[in-house]
Amino acid sequence: MERKTISFPKDFLWGASTSAYQVEGAWNEDGKGLSVIDVGKTPEGVTDFKVASDHYHRYKEDVALFAEMGLKAYRFSISWTRIFPEGAGRLNEKGIEFYDKLINELKAHNIEPIVTIYHFDLPYELQKKGGWANRETIEAYENYARTLFKYFGDRVKYWLTINEQNMVVMYGAVLGMIEAKSDNPKKELYQQNHHMFLAQAKAIKLCHEMCPGAKIGPAPNIAYVYPASSKPEDVLAAQNFSSIRNWLYLDLPVFGRYNSVAWSYMERENCVPDIEEGDMNIIKEAKPDFIAFNYYSTATVAWDDGTSSSNSTGDQQIVIGEPGFYKGVANPHLEKTQFGWEIDPLGFRITLRELHDRYNLPLLVTENGLGAYDKLEEGDVVNDDYRIEYLRKHIEQAKIAISEGVNLIGYCPWSAIDLVSTHQGISKRYGFIYVNRDEFDLKDLRRIKKKSFYWYKNVIAINGEEL
Ligand code: BG6
Repeated sequence: MERKTISFPKDFLWGASTSAYQVEGAWNEDGKGLSVIDVGKTPEGVTDFKVASDHYHRYKEDVALFAEMGLKAYRFSISWTRIFPEGAGRLNEKGIEFYDKLINELKAHNIEPIVTIYHFDLPYELQKKGGWANRETIEAYENYARTLFKYFGDRVKYWLTINEQNMVVMYGAVLGMIEAKSDNPKKELYQQNHHMFLAQAKAIKLCHEMCPGAKIGPAPNIAYVYPASSKPEDVLAAQNFSSIRNWLYLDLPVFGRYNSVAWSYMERENCVPDIEEGDMNIIKEAKPDFIAFNYYSTATVAWDDGTSSSNSTGDQQIVIGEPGFYKGVANPHLEKTQFGWEIDPLGFRITLRELHDRYNLPLLVTENGLGAYDKLEEGDVVNDDYRIEYLRKHIEQAKIAISEGVNLIGYCPWSAIDLVSTHQGISKRYGFIYVNRDEFDLKDLRRIKKKSFYWYKNVIAINGEEL
């Protein structure tokens, strides 16, 4: 049998990612309204998001650097409250103007914009009226999406609906969301979840109507779940966790149904959402064009006999557990980052293969990367070999996955440039470009190319032929 050559497609979208509130700064400038992030509490010892990397004022310099790195795509999010300061109603022209300029700058440098419509920063005015628990937020999101398609749809070909809806539901408090206050907070969460599915479906439908030729998809955080052992109970626990963490968030947009394990979990937990007549049809009719997903690590779980503590203290990649359903355990075969996240490049390939087999849609990686305490050395040098190592191993596995038939259309690591982490400040750096600031000292915010910048530039230049 002929051996398949292992290589990336010619038009592969080599990119990098950011999100608005983590990179832009200018939190109260040019008419921007408050988001839940702006009013949320920052954990002790870490910076807030007010200045971040000051990308709002330095986007031209940043895009020039992205172009120098050879990026074919740049994945960023639009700040909802720059466009609609109150989330709905009054449009802020200045907000449109900023993203117009950013998109034009990217296009002028031949960088494909990949736009996330909503990345954690829900308008505070909507939150005050119940946020995603209120069905009016669906309409507000739909109108916001319509506005983006109207103004930017002529230039943006790739749209992402909601960043990590699954993490918002599971670890919302850690990610800066405002916690549900009802008598049954879990039911409220799954109600919010259902409304997000509806909002997403409406945006998908609108995008197809308004922007022919554009593509749109969901962007959950996907982590393949390993059972701690071959004990059937552990395998059951892995299935449980995977169903509510991963597949729930793709089964809805792709198949238009709640999977049965997730459904029975919601029944067990007394948190089945109220579903109005017609809701499931709206969800079923909207078909995503691709699946975008963020991957940092796999998860490993064991059976839980009912004694484990609940999940709320975990984060995107640290699983605690839910009594009687699954319990997060360390994987003894994996190393960890300085921030305790397991590193699993082979798990990346396993995740890619699983997604391909389950959903049979093109895949786009919208986040993957290593958060570390980088050190700026004499002469403006950052020797982030550990990041290169992490990315190299993941790209290697992506390449093999492609040779195994996975339809992977792009890879956008987190992050294009240093930015403020969701809950661990600016010291947890991910970027190819160093931003000269500390948690509480803004210094000069100058941009410095890290060693990984030059490495990734070469990878892109040779289309990943050698890694
Ligand atoms: C993802 C988010 O969960 O992980 C990003 O989409 C986030 O917004 C990234 O920054 C890395 O997580 P953290 O907590 O290290 O910033």
